[in-house]
Amino acid sequence: MGKIALTGIKPTGILHIGNYFGAIKPALELAADYDARYFIADYHALNTMKDGAELNTRIREVAAGWLAAGLDPERVIFYRQSDVPETFELATMLMCFASKGLLNRAHAYKAVVQANGEKGADPDAGINMGLFTYPVLMAADILLFDTDIVPVGQDQTQHVEMAADIAGALNFNYKRELLKVPQASVRENVAVVPGLDGRKMSKSYGNVIPLFCTEKELRKLCMKVVTNSQGIDEPKNPDESQIFLLYTLFATPEERAALAARYRAGGMGWGEAKEELFRAANRELSPLRERYNAIMADIPALEKILKEGAAKARAVSSQTMARLRTASGIAL
Ligand code: ADP
Ligand code: TRP
Repeated sequence: MGKIALTGIKPTGILHIGNYFGAIKPALELAADYDARYFIADYHALNTMKDGAELNTRIREVAAGWLAAGLDPERVIFYRQSDVPETFELATMLMCFASKGLLNRAHAYKAVVQANGEKGADPDAGINMGLFTYPVLMAADILLFDTDIVPVGQDQTQHVEMAADIAGALNFNYKRELLKVPQASVRENVAVVPGLDGRKMSKSYGNVIPLFCTEKELRKLCMKVVTNSQGIDEPKNPDESQIFLLYTLFATPEERAALAARYRAGGMGWGEAKEELFRAANRELSPLRERYNAIMADIPALEKILKEGAAKARAVSSQTMARLRTASGIAL
């Protein structure tokens, strides 16, 4: 068996190009060299998504998104987290090896506590146990499948380190490597995709370019990317331009060099730079959009793919749990 790469995406909002370049595309490239296990983290999403109809739609969209982006379910084990109940059993077991102090240090949790403090609110305001134990559920996702590497964006590396810590604590206790210790894998050049306003592209900032919008909307959004106030004639620094940064994601190295030279020469206004961005983005995204629309038009076929993936996933996860039940003394 080859080395194992595993990652999940939370269906909490519309997929955007930050998710595509930061998570989906690198994961699909890795799938050429690794035994890949990719899934939809629907229980992680439940933490913030309390509208059933909306969560259901988002799950379908993320599943269709992976497939439209090129995931081959014959080669990659592709499933929904909730279809693998061993995840929840392992999460419960890991709770007993994860110190509260470790979870207190999780960035996402700490950020809410800090914001509460700044508002003079109770430190626990708005914090449910799903948020506090989020890293443990994520550790279960990862450790269940003997994962070697976890392709994620920079913001998720702390969670992978926590999964490694928790695996270490369990292995230390039972004095053998019952759980493989995973590592995060971040692609440096796409670590943070900027959004329309120049901050990290994120659905929570409302600054996203959706992965599957119409051509017309894509163009409209490309026109909205922030610029400075330099006039047409002024030479521009491509390295300081959000438009150029986004363009580099879609362009070939030759196209990048050619457009950078035009920025530096002056004579190209921001409108034209945005037009170039739209052309490059649309070229890459059009075929994905077509596949996505076809998949979304046949939900039973999508369900079938996910169920078949879950069966393959459970063939692995049930073995991990059997090993842990024996080692922990839970199994008779
Ligand atoms: P959002 O920030 O929109 O809520 P998620 O947190 O659901 O996105 O991220 C899903 C995956 O996409 C994660 O692996 C995350 O690291 C990656 N990701 C999200 N936004 C970006 C971005 N702007 N640049 C690079 N990767 C990103
Ligand atoms: N927490 C990840 C995110 O917000 C999603 C996720 C859940 C995940 N379980 C995972 C990523 C396991 C990698 C491995 O994007």
